[in-house]
Amino acid sequence: MKKGFSGRVAGVLVLVLWAAGLVYAGVCQSISKEKAEEIARYIADVIVAGRGIVAEHQDLINDPKKGEKGFTPEYVERLIRERFRQMTGKDISELDPEARAVVEQVIAAAKMSVQMNQKRINQPGKGFKGYIPAVFGRETGQILKARCNIQIKQTTFKYRNAYNQPDPFERQVLKKFEDPNWPKGKGYGAFVNGKYRYMRPIYIKKACLKCHGEPKGARDIAGRIKEGYKEGELRGAISVSFPVK
Ligand code: HEC
Repeated sequence: MKKGFSGRVAGVLVLVLWAAGLVYAGVCQSISKEKAEEIARYIADVIVAGRGIVAEHQDLINDPKKGEKGFTPEYVERLIRERFRQMTGKDISELDPEARAVVEQVIAAAKMSVQMNQKRINQPGKGFKGYIPAVFGRETGQILKARCNIQIKQTTFKYRNAYNQPDPFERQVLKKFEDPNWPKGKGYGAFVNGKYRYMRPIYIKKACLKCHGEPKGARDIAGRIKEGYKEGELRGAISVSFPVK
């Protein structure tokens, strides 16, 4: 009996996933080789923007005296669009259709992560909620991978989570980023085995110090060990990859 029920649940799940696949198949078209670099840069821009927004709103998110915080998907979307304009000098609506479709998918995935966490974010009486940049980035990446086969990783040599451990390509590129002569903020991309792979260095900002700063070895508010970074230091990279046609 029990088995029959879970079988049915599984069946419904498969149906839902299949339907979602049908809906998104038309939106997430494979990315052309010519556009790969530009699109990868935009994907990294949106992720870096969203992570920064989550970092800068930690005090609000973790305020135990507040219930509804207004940190809604729509609010985050508006900030992401503003930052995208500041970072690229372009409005998303001005991008060519291929790039724009992908960027809209990344924003939709980011909004979904914020949506999934509304209950947690708005919980009154609770301090640290655990909705941090790394969680935002991981969830947005998972959604984007399922919908569009675009992979996003937040990687570094000093990883807290084994899941973020750099692969051989990422190690090579992180080494480049560590070179003092590498221009600050400059990304690196290459075609590797039918995929385009792109990495964007990320640096420690004020909002990151609370958890990744000094004193080295002390615990952050999540109870994890601080790495002792200083503002401006290389923390790691956003790593983006997708197949190209
Ligand atoms: C509230 C604490 C907190 C803040 C603020 C914070 N982080 Fe983190 N960060 C963490 C935790 C905890 C993890 C491990 C997450 C996991 O287990 O996936 C992490 C993971 C990461 C990772 C993935 C690599 C790894 O260590 O596994 C990167 C990259 C990163 N943080 C960069 C940043 C940057 C850059 C900022 C500022 C914009 C920032 N973090 C702000 C707590 C924080």
